[in-house]
This record gives sequence, C-alpha cells and structure tokens, in this order.
Amino acid sequence: MSTSSSTGAEGVMEGSNAKRGHWSSRLAFILAATGSAVGLGNVWKFPYITGENGGGAFVLVYLLCIAAVGLPIMMAEVMIGRRGGRSPVNSLRLIVERDSLGRFWPIVGIIGVIAAFLILSFYSVIGGWAVSYVGTAASGELVGKDADAIGAIFSGLVSDPGTLLLWHTVFMALVMLVVARGVSSGLERAVSILMPALFVLLLVAVGYAMTTGHFGEAAAFLFQPDFSKLTTEGVLTALGHAFFTLSLGMAVMMAYGSYLPKNVSIAKTSITVSVIDTVVALLAGLAIFPVVFANGLEPGAGPGLIFQTLPYAFGQMPMGSLFGALFFILLIFAAWTSGISLLEPLVEWLEEQKGMNRTVSTLGAGIACWALGIASILSLNLWSDVFPLGMFSAFEGKTIFDLLDYLTANILLPLGGLLVAIFAGWIISRQALENELNLSAGGFALWYNTLRFVTPVAVAVVFIYNLA
Ligand code: PFF
Repeated sequence: MSTSSSTGAEGVMEGSNAKRGHWSSRLAFILAATGSAVGLGNVWKFPYITGENGGGAFVLVYLLCIAAVGLPIMMAEVMIGRRGGRSPVNSLRLIVERDSLGRFWPIVGIIGVIAAFLILSFYSVIGGWAVSYVGTAASGELVGKDADAIGAIFSGLVSDPGTLLLWHTVFMALVMLVVARGVSSGLERAVSILMPALFVLLLVAVGYAMTTGHFGEAAAFLFQPDFSKLTTEGVLTALGHAFFTLSLGMAVMMAYGSYLPKNVSIAKTSITVSVIDTVVALLAGLAIFPVVFANGLEPGAGPGLIFQTLPYAFGQMPMGSLFGALFFILLIFAAWTSGISLLEPLVEWLEEQKGMNRTVSTLGAGIACWALGIASILSLNLWSDVFPLGMFSAFEGKTIFDLLDYLTANILLPLGGLLVAIFAGWIISRQALENELNLSAGGFALWYNTLRFVTPVAVAVVFIYNLA
C-alpha cells in the first residue's frame, strides 16, 4: 500500500486519499475486524474468567455489555475512522478541524495508538506460548503426564527467558511479515486464509468436545444463569472484557474503518463482527469446558486454564496429541490476526505522518514493540521480584508484565472508550453522524441514545471502580 506523503494537519486536510489502501469488499473488512476481535481474549481469557466467575450469570452480563456498550462504541470508532479516512490521530484531527470541534480530541487517537503498542508487546509473549505449545502437544510430551508434570512444563517455559524470547520473536515476526505487505496483499490475504481456518479448527474442537460425554454439563455451566454466583467484581470484569474482546478503545477499529469503502453499512458490519466474536467465545467455551469436566478439573483454574488444565486433559485423551496441537494452532491463528491489528495503527501513523514507507515503518514499530516485550519476558523470571511502581499501594507486587496489563486493560482502554463515546455522542454533530451511518430513524435513535447515555455511564463506573 502506498500513502499520501502529506505531513501535519494541513497536509492531512488537503492530502489526497486516493492512494491509500482499501478493503476490497465488505467481507474483507468483516474478516479483518473479526480477525482483530477474535483472539487470545476469546479462546484464552473468556473461558477462564467465565470459569472464575461461576458461568451462566456472568455470560449473560457479558452478552449485555457487548450489546449495550461494545457494539455502540465499535460503530462510533469505525465511523470516525471512515469519516476521517486517515490514521486514527489524523482522522480525529481532520474531523475536529473541519467542523471546529476543539483541539483536544486527537488525544483519543494518541491514547489508542500507545495502548495498542503496549498491549502488543506482551500479547506477543503469550502468542509465543501458543507457538511453543504446538510442538509440546504434537511431540506427545503431554501424554499420560499427571497434573504436576504438566504444571512443570508450563513453569519450565515461563521461567526460561531464552525460550520465551525465541517464541516471542517468532510471533512478532509473523505479525510484521503480514503488516509490512500492506492492507490488500498483507492484512486482507492473511485474514481471508486464517479466519476460515480458525472457524474450521474451532468446529473440530467443539466436535471433539462432544465426544467427551460432558457436553451437556458444559452447556449448562455456560447458559444456565445462577445469579447467586455473580459478584460486582464479575460485572466489572465482564464489561472490561467486552472492550478487550472487541478490540475497542485502542484505535484499531478506527484504523480499520479508515480503509472501509463509503458504501458499506457501518451498523450491519459492526453487528456482524460483534456477533461472530461472541459466537467464537461461546464456542471456545463449548470446546474447553467439556474437556475440563470430563477430566474432573477445576473450571476456575484462572489464566493457566488453557496452558495447564487443558494440556493435562489432552494428555489423557485418545488422539490428544493431534487435537492438542490443532487447538494451539487455532490459538496462534486467533492471536496472529489480533496482533496484526495491534501493530497497524502505529504503522499507519508512521507512514502518513513521518512519510516512511510501509516496510520501514513496520520494521521500526515492530522492533520497538519486540524490544519492549523483552521486559515482560524478564518480569516472568529474572525480574519476577522487580516491582517498578511498588512504592504506590495500588501497584504493590505488580511486575512489569502485570503493570502493562493493568495500565492498558484497566486505565487506557476504558478511558479511550469513554472518550470515543463522548466525542461521537456529544461533540460531532448529529447531522454528520446521520450522514455517515445512514440508518433508519429508529435505528439511529437507538444507537445515538445508547451511546450518549448508557455507554458513558457504564464505562465511567468501571473506570472509577478500577481506580478506586
Ligand atoms: N480483541 C483481541 C482479543 O480478544 O484477543 C485483543 C485485542 C486486539 C485487543 C486488538 C485490542 C486490540 F486493539
């Protein structure tokens, strides 16, 4: 993809948009946005937080959060991206300058680009775990091992900086390879192969789970709400996760929206992406919990659920090595397409603002992010007792890895989301929104009022609770 060489706000306003890349179709955008949304959040995090929060009631709240908070913000982000037609920061700048809306708002894009960069630095480390587990499962190393031995494999990986670095490097290289090739021959081609492959693998995993004899138990766990198990904390976790899983508050959907052709319906595509993301999370639950229950394991095992609990189960089951390896390949595909979307906003900005070509900007952004990832790797082992902000009680006992996760998930992301909701709901003119979204009167009113009233209040509550 080539870019306009304009720099600065004026250049941005006058620069031609004709040379930018575009998704070739509505489907291409849906695959790419779904690729971003579906990731470790769906296959790794959703099952374990559902397990920790008691199942059904939590799932119900999560679905509500997707509909009432996630979807309206996704529509707003895609709309801002497409209306500006530039990288997130410049799209916002263009919109505020065109309609004299004040100088503050481009900061939303800056927060997003920074958050995406920080997230990728440790997301890639976890993506690397998935890469490493393909070999672990395929080699038969899990077969017949007891839970302690399986736990030792995981701690062995996490405590070895060299191995972690190797897999982190492999994962980051995969991401950079695709991003460097640009929107149509890189991103679009990758998602059009990886996403269908991911769905097939997921269905195979669910099919396999059905043979365990505990499918009904898992379905009941996920879909029968027991409100006595729901806590305030659980509600907040559900809301925070709705952001993470839909890739919101991080400028990603703005960046992707900027390549969206004008004639595509933002509402329909955003609904499609949200529904697919949700279905994938539920399918991941239906693939994982039957295996957990069949082996008498603990659904609330936490972050180790798919790297410790599940590998134990694979080691006990017929053809477990094959299905284990396929499962981790699925996880890599999911994480890969999300990783790509995390690097894109910064690369797009470097190209546009600094006039770098695509390869140079990908190398620059990717290597910087890879280097930051090393700090996360070390904080899992050699620096596991280094707590850089330990002098503040809120950050006591938090390693660099923990801090990056906390800063992005609990602060930058809700803040970005809240600002997007305020900007789209209260600052941009209603007329401009109507033109861009092109909805029926009823549909528009529903979206607009949710975005103006429900979404900001919900996000503000989480934000303040998390800070407190
Ligand atoms: N949505 C991805 C997941 O669920 O794993 C994670 C993610 C990707 C978050 C891109 C944020 C983002 F910008």
